[in-house]
Formats: sequence, structure tokens, C-alpha cells
Amino acid sequence: VLVVGASSGIGRGIALALAQAGAVVAAAGRRVRALEELCEELGPDHVAVECDVRAPDACETTVDRTVAALGGLDDLVYAAGVSRLMPLINADSDLWHEVLETNVIGASLACRAAFPRLRASAGRAVFLGSSSVGRLFPGLSAYAASKAALNELICGWRTENPDVSFTNVIVGPTTGTEFTSQWDPDLATQRFRFWERHGYLSVAASMDPSDIGDVVCAAMTSPAWMWSVAVHACDSAAEPAIR
Ligand SMILES: NC(=O)c1ccc[n+]([C@@H]2O[C@H](COP(=O)([O-])OP(=O)(O)OC[C@H]3O[C@@H](n4cnc5c(N)ncnc54)[C@H](OP(=O)(O)O)[C@@H]3O)[C@@H](O)[C@H]2O)c1
Repeated sequence: VLVVGASSGIGRGIALALAQAGAVVAAAGRRVRALEELCEELGPDHVAVECDVRAPDACETTVDRTVAALGGLDDLVYAAGVSRLMPLINADSDLWHEVLETNVIGASLACRAAFPRLRASAGRAVFLGSSSVGRLFPGLSAYAASKAALNELICGWRTENPDVSFTNVIVGPTTGTEFTSQWDPDLATQRFRFWERHGYLSVAASMDPSDIGDVVCAAMTSPAWMWSVAVHACDSAAEPAIR
């Protein structure tokens, strides 16, 4: 399995869960040291592959390196993503390019590069959507727009290629990631106060990356194809994680 965006957070959790379930993982992303540390934790067969999805031909090169290192490629997980906290009035062209190139265009190019392998192995592609689509947080509109576009992109891949499985794992708030690491601290404090005051933070509980890893494993191994799975934190430990 190639996991793009495995150097931190949810992608890292997915790589750990897949390896534990018996998969051999190619962990891709820009931060090679973090990927190598992950592979040391995963065990001897797993490989780190440097990949910046925004660079020309990066996805093709990443798939080629994965196939060379692992001897093949069956499945793809696209976990790469960036969130930028910025009101639209201040969102410039650079911000839009970064968000759309990483969250949408990179997803399609990675899928395109892996696609012949996925089809040949009856493999699966899994993407990470966001529960913020349709109920976006003010200040995260560019991010939500990119995830709305990702939803349609996944439908497009599925509609054009009905013989391959494409899963949208729609994720709710998840901690233990670097999702907010690029946010300006003052703007973040101000936004959190606003979100709290206006009821955007009504979901008190959050998940951790291993919760999402378990769901991706289920999507990879289920006899039925999962087109879309919404994953939210349990309100009580007794409740199931998938609703
Ligand atoms: N955390 C949440 O609450 C939440 C909720 C809903 C959906 N999600 C989605 O879950 C996914 C993972 O997010 P996260 O919360 O785990 O955040 P994270 O810790 O920041 O992980 C993002 C990953 O994307 C990779 N990435 C970013 N730009 C890249 C590029 N140009 N080329 C290759 N890889 C790139 C990063 O690796 P490098 O920096 O090493 O390249 C990192 O591994 C994202 O798609 C996010 O939208 C998260």
C-alpha cells in the first residue's frame, strides 16, 4: 500500500494500522526523516519515499519508486492535506494554489499514477474527506472548498472507472496531528473564541489517528466496497465509532 502523507497525523496512523494488519507500506511525503522513523517503527519491509505532490511528475515518480521497492502496488491511500486558517478576504493566490494543489490536484494525480496498478490488482483507493463540507468553519472556507471538490473528484474517478473501488473516508475532528500547525496563533485564538460563541464547537469529543487507521483498514479489507464512510468520535465509550 502506498500512503501519501504518512509523515504525521492521520496518514501516519493509517500506515501503522495497515502494517499491523499485514500490509507492506510505502510511506510518502516531503519530510523524509519522519518517514524513515515511521518505517523503523513499522519493520524491515516498509519503505520511505520522498514526495512533494505539488512538484511536477512527483506522483509518477513516487509510484515508480514504490513499485521498484516493494515489487508491486495494490492499494493507495491519499492522506496528504493542508488546512490554512484565513478569511477569504485575505486568501491570496498562493494560498489557493497550495490548498487546491495539495488537497485536490495531488489526490487526482496520485490516483492517476497508481491507477493501472490498482486496476491490475483489483486494488482500492482511499481518500480523506472532511466533515466540515456543508457546515464549514468561518476562516477555513478555502479548506472546505477543497474538500467539497475532493468529494466530486472521488465521484468522478468512480463514475469513470466502475471496476475499481474508491472510498471517501469523511473525517471529523481528530487530534494528535499537525492540522493546525501552520495557523497564526493570534488568528487561531480569535477564531476559536468565535467558533465557541457561535456553536461551531458543539462536538466536544475528537478522535485520534489510530481511529481513522482502523476505518481505512476496514475499507481496504471489507468484501463490499465502501464508497463513503463518515467517522466521528464517540460521545460515550460504549457507542460504536462509525455511524
Ligand atoms: N485533523 C483533523 O481534524 C482532520 C479532519 C478532517 C480531515 N482531515 C484530513 O486528514 C488528512 C491528514 O491531516 P492531518 O490532520 O493528519 O494533518 P497533518 O498531520 O498535517 O498531515 C498532513 C500530511 O500531508 C502531507 N503533505 C502536506 N503537503 C504535502 C505535499 N505537498 N506533498 C506530500 N505530502 C504532503 C504531510 O507530509 P509532509 O509535510 O512531510 O509533506 C503530512 O504527512 C488531510 O487530508 C486532512 O484534510 C483532518
